Amino acid sequence: MEFIAHRGLSGAAPENTAAAFNEAASLGFRNVELDVLFTADDVPVVCHDDDLNRFGHQVLVSQQPWTTLQTLDMGSWYGPSFHGERLLTLDAALDQLSRQFDCINIELKPELNGHLTGPRSLRLTEQLARARAQGLALLMSSFDPRLVSWCQQHCPELPRAVLVEGPLTRAHEQLADLTGASAVHLDNDYLKAEDISRIKAQGLTARAYTVNEPARARALKQWGCDGIFTDILSPGSAP
Ligand code: G3P
Ligand code: MG
Repeated sequence: MEFIAHRGLSGAAPENTAAAFNEAASLGFRNVELDVLFTADDVPVVCHDDDLNRFGHQVLVSQQPWTTLQTLDMGSWYGPSFHGERLLTLDAALDQLSRQFDCINIELKPELNGHLTGPRSLRLTEQLARARAQGLALLMSSFDPRLVSWCQQHCPELPRAVLVEGPLTRAHEQLADLTGASAVHLDNDYLKAEDISRIKAQGLTARAYTVNEPARARALKQWGCDGIFTDILSPGSAP
């Protein structure tokens, strides 16, 4: 079973920062997940929330230019030793991660729906193509069906996954079928053994997010789950 460091290893360092990715690499993770949003001036950045309030800043990523966002301290909210961690552009993150990991799962946040057109679309596809050309394995995913379709249309060569929030439904399976997804990423809070059997019976890969309990990781492995996204469990502690 694959272990995927969720937002970098976000149980050990501030999520989606260089420190979180370094932590994951040092613990032996070969797979990592990150989230992508865009700045007001169309720069793709690695960030989970459009509203940075949780990190101590009263700003929206989508409303600010990169020159402003790049000055923000994204580490102190987590602990003083992480003071000075910065938001990363996707380009910079992929450059770092290409030297540290085998596979990067890029999650397109639902806020991007309807905003991934024109220069943004072009910039994102160029950056993904460049990373792929460097030999980095990429996996695209989104909770938003339209963004999974965007991936199918704009970077069909990259594998994609349907993200499920809440219980698995027939609609998720149909979306995976329609978009040629190779995987379904299931919500651990609702996940049952039969969901994994259903997904795998369709020839798809089943992964679960977010799994932080060793006993749960063991159960998922027994059920045939192919991978888990985790904030704290290291591959060395594999069940
Ligand atoms: O991609 C798996 C997981 O990251 C989805 O949820 O909210 O942590 O981005 P979230
Ligand atoms: Mg995510």
